[in-house]
Amino acid sequence: MDWNTRVAAWEDVAASPAFQRLADRVLTSAAPSPDDRVVDLGAGTGLLTFRIAPLVHDVIAIDAAPAMVDYVTDATRDAGIDNVQAAVSDLRALALPDASRTLAISNYAYHHLDHEGKLTALHELYRILAPGGRVSICDMMFALSLRPRDRRIIFDKVRLMARRGPAGVMRILRNAGRVATGSWEHPERPEVWVELLTETGFADIASFELSNEAGLVVARRPA
Ligand SMILES: C[S@@+](CC[C@H](N)C(=O)[O-])C[C@H]1O[C@@H](n2cnc3c(N)ncnc32)[C@H](O)[C@@H]1O
Repeated sequence: MDWNTRVAAWEDVAASPAFQRLADRVLTSAAPSPDDRVVDLGAGTGLLTFRIAPLVHDVIAIDAAPAMVDYVTDATRDAGIDNVQAAVSDLRALALPDASRTLAISNYAYHHLDHEGKLTALHELYRILAPGGRVSICDMMFALSLRPRDRRIIFDKVRLMARRGPAGVMRILRNAGRVATGSWEHPERPEVWVELLTETGFADIASFELSNEAGLVVARRPA
């Protein structure tokens, strides 16, 4: 997916009540403090970045799409905000020094990485967090499985798309094709996230199922 062409469309999604509620959950779980040096991973148009900036020391908004980074840079300048920087970087190779951040937040970004990609990205996250640094990651968290929660999420998604008429049916078919060819997104269940964070060495891990498809995991780099 080319996120460079989706800046305006994503800004509408990020402004929706559903995404504002997700941002509320991330911020509450992150418990930001004035000393925190924050990184927002896969920041997009800055939904989390601009909500958390007034509460912390500084925020670095990381995104792989230069157009998203330009959007955050322009919005930061236009609003006269002095503690936000945006940078182009991949979640799997963060252009940040070791142990340089005390809090990492993320919303709806990691499902773009496959299982191995997430593991690589979590090792990177561990590297750039200071000892004791906290993590709060929200994402779509389910699997294409017959487990009751997964089944309900998939059924709801298909029903919503089908309601949109021919365009929705086309989308269902397109998504089915992407699943069949392995080019669909890679959401994972909250339990798998706990396994990934454990494998990476994080401690104090907890996961939460949020409304619809969303989930939240929190963790800490051991002190
Ligand atoms: C669905 S948007 C979410 C944006 C924002 N976090 C929000 O909640 O509004 C996903 C973002 O992740 C970014 N992204 C996807 N894959 C990435 C990667 N490998 N490294 C860094 N950013 C990535 C995309 O460019 C996009 O801006």
